Amino acid sequence: MIPSVSSSFLLIGAVALLRSVKKTKKTRKVFRVYMDGCFDLMHFGHANALRQARAIASLASTGGGGGDVEGAEEVELIVGLVSDEEILRCKGPPVLPEQERVKCVRAVKWVDDIIANVPYELTREFVEELFSEKYGIDCIVHGDDPCYLPDGTDAYAIPKALGKYREIKRTEGVSTTDLVARLLEYADASENTSKSAGDESSGGKRSEKNERHEARFCTTASRIAQFAAKVSYSKTSKMHEETEKRKTDKKQRKNEKNEETTCCYVVGAFDVFNAGHVELLEECSFVADKVVCAVIADEYLTRDQTNQPPPMLNQSERAMSAIACRHCDDVVVGAPARLTDDICKTFNVTAVVFEDDDAVTERDRNVCEKNGVQILSVKERVFSRKKLTIAKRVQANRALFEERQKRKMASEKAYYEQKAFVEED
Ligand code: CTP
Repeated sequence: MIPSVSSSFLLIGAVALLRSVKKTKKTRKVFRVYMDGCFDLMHFGHANALRQARAIASLASTGGGGGDVEGAEEVELIVGLVSDEEILRCKGPPVLPEQERVKCVRAVKWVDDIIANVPYELTREFVEELFSEKYGIDCIVHGDDPCYLPDGTDAYAIPKALGKYREIKRTEGVSTTDLVARLLEYADASENTSKSAGDESSGGKRSEKNERHEARFCTTASRIAQFAAKVSYSKTSKMHEETEKRKTDKKQRKNEKNEETTCCYVVGAFDVFNAGHVELLEECSFVADKVVCAVIADEYLTRDQTNQPPPMLNQSERAMSAIACRHCDDVVVGAPARLTDDICKTFNVTAVVFEDDDAVTERDRNVCEKNGVQILSVKERVFSRKKLTIAKRVQANRALFEERQKRKMASEKAYYEQKAFVEED
């Protein structure tokens, strides 16, 4: 694609901008990386992009990534969240409104702060603002997939010309486009389920279709380890402040009530991880010292077991999003659907929460009673955690989404065809 802005014009603009950026040379000891995006239907590919952006910052802070901050001791990742209007203008309708996208991005443990309502295009003015004292950004990061504006120009042309741009490897096997396709299938399959409960032929249709969108993500042990690693926040990070405050509140509560360490075990499918799930896990983190998110294994979520269409994402995919969530202290990848004495003892569970209150069985109640475990009910407050709510939104705008899908699938196909090995941080 040929940029419509002439490269000499871009270069002159970039040199002038570089001068003004240089003037604001950093005295801070924090290296700040900026990654923007839509983060629609926030998935573990997005989370991995954020993780890598933070890793770039760490590398840069030890002198490996360039930039104007020398010997920075700490790093921060600032996310620019593209507004609903800009997504509509440049890509088509977003599935999730900004409020839900903010909730999901903020919950990712590598994120230090969010700038909401940012433009899709990194204009000269906006880049200048990012590098100014106001935001104090040192470099801008994006995945290695091309990102074009509606007029065909590169959205990152200015930071690239400034030499302030870094690239991370896009995560294979997951995308918003792919999830939209799975949501449409799910909405259709749920309708089939309610129309013909127990009808084998409708279930058959679902699994046939499902093969077209089956998981392509390869969960490796090293990726899980990267996701599970503890993050250290800078002293100036909003997240540092938040985590510290929560720790102090908990300590105070414990002292007041003379409580033992508490562990909240949260059981659910956590399929299409969403703002409702974040809200649920956050609530749990307020009431317990430790939150263990038990992501139920695929084998317990078949149509035969639940009389529902199977989950859209497999257990590894579902677990990755939970691992990336700052409110989880640990995640069981492929948990049993039912509580057992052994689980209660292994995790020293003091309270249990089910993603769906209706899923609690008599057997669970008995296990809880025997082990002195409290069953807590965490109601949906602001956000729904039902994937059908999201699926229905997509289904209600099917024509618009199918149009968007066509465009995106073509560019994704092109990306995969030219894709070669890229080293990852
Ligand atoms: N990203 C990634 N891996 C993916 C999807 C996105 O690394 N599988 C990265 C993008 O390269 C970008 C950031 O995540 O740097 C935010 O992406 P976003 O603006 O949400 O849009 P898309 O790139 O279109 O992501 P998707 O295809 O999932 O919509």
